[in-house]
Amino acid sequence: MKLLSLSSALLVLLAPTVSSAAPARSENSTYYNPVLPGWHSDPSCTQVDGTFFCVTSTFISFPGLPIYASKDLINWKLASHVWNRETQLPGVSWNTTGQQQGMYAATLRHRDGSFFVVCEYLVTDENIGVVFRSADPFRDEGWSDPVVFHADSIDPDLFWDDEGDGKTYVATQGIVLQEINLQTGELSQPPVSLWNGTGGVWPEGPHLYKKDGWYYLMIAEGGTELDHSITIARSRNLKGPYEAYEHNPILTNRGTDEYFQTVGHGDLFQDAAGNWWGMSLATRSGPDWEIYPMGREAVLFPVTWDEGSWPVLQPVRGEMSGWPMPPSNRDVPGDGPFNSDPDAYDFVAGTSIPRNLVHWRVPRAGAFTVTSSRGLQIVPSRNNLTGTPYSEATPELSGQQGLSFIGRRQTDTLFTFSVDLTFDPQEADQEAGVTVFLTQVNHIDLGVVLLPGRSNASCAARRKREIAETQELALRFRTEGTGTPPEPKIIAVPKDWLDGPIRLSIEAANATHYNLAAMPAANPDARILVGTASAGLVSGGNGSFVGSLVGAYATCNGAGAGVECPEGGNAYFTRWRYSGAGQYISETEVV
Ligand SMILES: *[C@@H]1O[C@H](CO)[C@@H](O)[C@H](O)[C@H]1NC(C)=O
Ligand SMILES: *[C@@H]1O[C@H](CO)[C@@H](O)[C@H](O)[C@H]1NC(C)=O
Ligand SMILES: *[C@@H]1O[C@H](CO)[C@@H](O)[C@H](O)[C@H]1NC(C)=O
Ligand SMILES: *[C@@H]1O[C@H](CO)[C@@H](O)[C@H](O)[C@H]1NC(C)=O
Ligand SMILES: *[C@@H]1O[C@H](CO)[C@@H](O)[C@H](O)[C@H]1NC(C)=O
Ligand SMILES: *[C@@H]1O[C@H](CO)[C@@H](O)[C@H](O)[C@H]1NC(C)=O
Ligand SMILES: *[C@@H]1O[C@H](CO)[C@@H](O)[C@H](O)[C@H]1NC(C)=O
Repeated sequence: MKLLSLSSALLVLLAPTVSSAAPARSENSTYYNPVLPGWHSDPSCTQVDGTFFCVTSTFISFPGLPIYASKDLINWKLASHVWNRETQLPGVSWNTTGQQQGMYAATLRHRDGSFFVVCEYLVTDENIGVVFRSADPFRDEGWSDPVVFHADSIDPDLFWDDEGDGKTYVATQGIVLQEINLQTGELSQPPVSLWNGTGGVWPEGPHLYKKDGWYYLMIAEGGTELDHSITIARSRNLKGPYEAYEHNPILTNRGTDEYFQTVGHGDLFQDAAGNWWGMSLATRSGPDWEIYPMGREAVLFPVTWDEGSWPVLQPVRGEMSGWPMPPSNRDVPGDGPFNSDPDAYDFVAGTSIPRNLVHWRVPRAGAFTVTSSRGLQIVPSRNNLTGTPYSEATPELSGQQGLSFIGRRQTDTLFTFSVDLTFDPQEADQEAGVTVFLTQVNHIDLGVVLLPGRSNASCAARRKREIAETQELALRFRTEGTGTPPEPKIIAVPKDWLDGPIRLSIEAANATHYNLAAMPAANPDARILVGTASAGLVSGGNGSFVGSLVGAYATCNGAGAGVECPEGGNAYFTRWRYSGAGQYISETEVV
């Protein structure tokens, strides 16, 4: 023991010498965007003691508001989720009807040893402003219950006017400013109008920075679609008047034929060497803006910000070059996965549900359990992935009261995902499967389902004798998108598959299509390609703010009563695998 601690003390003493002897990165870096691929919109970031932290928007998915940590700006580890327990906002998730309500753009800041995340949660007819605080962003439990405030609009920024009146402020969409009491959530009234932007729609996503005696107000403008942009203004006084920069916008890909579109809604921060960087959202769609299943992703750009001058933001492209980067370093605390790493989850006894898997709203208690020997058990929900969205009469069929779905972000243009299913349904309409899921009205599913006997003459005769015999275990491929969904495609499960688990897989055939296939886990060569669907079904539409998840579900398709399905429909999942096979950084280049 003594020797060990002596040698580690020596190592610590030697460390500075060792690192200064390591080759210094003095040359400008090159890297690829997006650095945080997959659905990661509205990034807000800060750097503390050489570690970069970002939060992104998650709307109604839960757990929400992920914090990613990185020491090199390229490898981003999931450190925690700020919104991670129902008791932080009791009863609110299940009352959230809309597919794109929930946690909008947050701001992440660090001060006096605490991290703060400020956000607006949108629920039917109100906005709930929330400020969470943590001293340890690597643990979910470190995040406090929120202090609640009631601002009129979204996208709060948090700014301490240290060199001015010493007070704490939130700026929100508009752009308006209010003083906030972080203990009580009380806001000063009336809000002070700071700037209306340069004339684009939706001036929003404000962030305030104090630099060289100026207050800089950087905002998003033009809406989060093809006209999106970042603009900036500055003032000697926090409350204005603000002078707009004459060369606005300072960042946009509007009106270009770039592959990365919708660039906007960003935040600026410095690395430990003092160089400025920014992160914003972008969509890999090209100007056609039709197929972009990953939605709005987070991109990194170098920023040059000389004393007294306006910041210069480098245009967003797939291949970037800029300031020297910190050396590659995956030694980041916490037990979450890196965003760009593959998943290999076996759900063995004693493990918990992996940190990067999320649900659509807060799940029902007991719906997802890692069992002692059967893998991940999913107790079905009465609502299927579509259900009857927006039903006040039957919320248990609307998805509001817990949808039995679990998924991870599609983080690669090309990828394969598969999971092994053990399922022995007892009643008609019990179903379990895999899905590419954007919203309850945009998804592509391959399920194993017990169908009622099909009506042909001999079946009808047999049904009279024994109902169970007429039921049929089938593979069902169905899609939900704009317009009336096509008839599902149904293939009987071959009899010789019934002895063991069935492997269900989703793979990107290319940048625009998914193939969904089934096979006996013991004999993947017997694979049946059940269906192919366009990624256009899970691009934009009713989910223009969100991005696709791939994952597993179980449902009884409305059978049962209340929130309970008929007995016997639990599904068991093992061998969950996701792996990336290529990122498009332009229409033609894959890295
Ligand atoms: C949720 O909705 C129900 C029914 O409208 C209401 O009684 C309850 O107060 C709501 N809960 C919260 C936390 O808003
Ligand atoms: C922004 O527009 C509103 C509504 O027209 C106006 O009341 C406000 O004074 C404007 N703010 C500024 C800073 O010009
Ligand atoms: C290095 O990157 C910075 C930031 O993008 C840029 O201002 C500078 O011109 C680059 N230097 C070289 C030699 O390319
Ligand atoms: C999904 O559930 C609804 C009832 O909530 C039902 O009407 C619909 O047919 C189900 N879809 C399928 C494919 O079974
Ligand atoms: C319909 O009847 C035929 C003849 O008995 C039978 O072979 C077939 O399996 C039945 N079809 C279905 C879908 O059950
Ligand atoms: C992408 O894959 C789909 C499904 O296999 C195919 O129909 C389509 O032609 C492919 N597109 C390209 C550009 O290869
Ligand atoms: C989907 O979008 C259509 C058209 O805007 C709208 O009428 C419908 O209510 C939306 N459905 C959901 C579930 O959000």
